[in-house]
Amino acid sequence: MTHDIEKILVSETELAETVRRLGKRVSEDYKGKNLLLLSVLKGSVVFMADLMRSIDIPCEIDFITADSYGNDTRTSGTVTISGRTQERVQGYDVLIVEDILDSGFTLNKLIEVLQTGKPNSIRICTLLDKPDRRQAPIRADYSCFTIPNEFVVGYGLDCAQKYRNLPYIGVLKESVAQALESK
Ligand code: IMP
Ligand code: MG
Repeated sequence: MTHDIEKILVSETELAETVRRLGKRVSEDYKGKNLLLLSVLKGSVVFMADLMRSIDIPCEIDFITADSYGNDTRTSGTVTISGRTQERVQGYDVLIVEDILDSGFTLNKLIEVLQTGKPNSIRICTLLDKPDRRQAPIRADYSCFTIPNEFVVGYGLDCAQKYRNLPYIGVLKESVAQALESK
């Protein structure tokens, strides 16, 4: 698996330290609030598992599915959302936990849907931010790493559903990405 990686962008140690610091910040910011951590499947599961254990105030967790990619490395622009949506967010301070903010279409759509459920607040927490690729007017409230316009995998992020189990964030070799896309 590691042979398919061009270079490591964020190491395991760097991930662990940054996520721990973020958990402290969230714990401070959400003191006395009704925090709901809403993880966007599947890419954010590893980030979510680490982040929630770095938060030391009471909170609830839930999951939502958002899909716009299929097997492609570029977004299709159409986002399908399912899971806990507008029905059960009323009275919560929702913190969306996302793996990567890219075009912004996914979170734009998700926030639009959640807002109809009248939560107390909605904020975005993303592990990675690729600002060069933004097309929708979306900004992260919490972001761990800003990365260049390269396709990355690992720590939950996939290419055609593979590489999610890598413990670091790496750039996939161009040839490997192309072979997976055309499958
Ligand atoms: P957006 O709607 O374009 O912002 O897409 C966000 C979603 O696309 C993320 O939640 C990821 O699932 C996926 N994505 C975007 N860039 C990458 C990448 O470099 N590697 C893996 N998945 C990515
Ligand atoms: Mg995702």
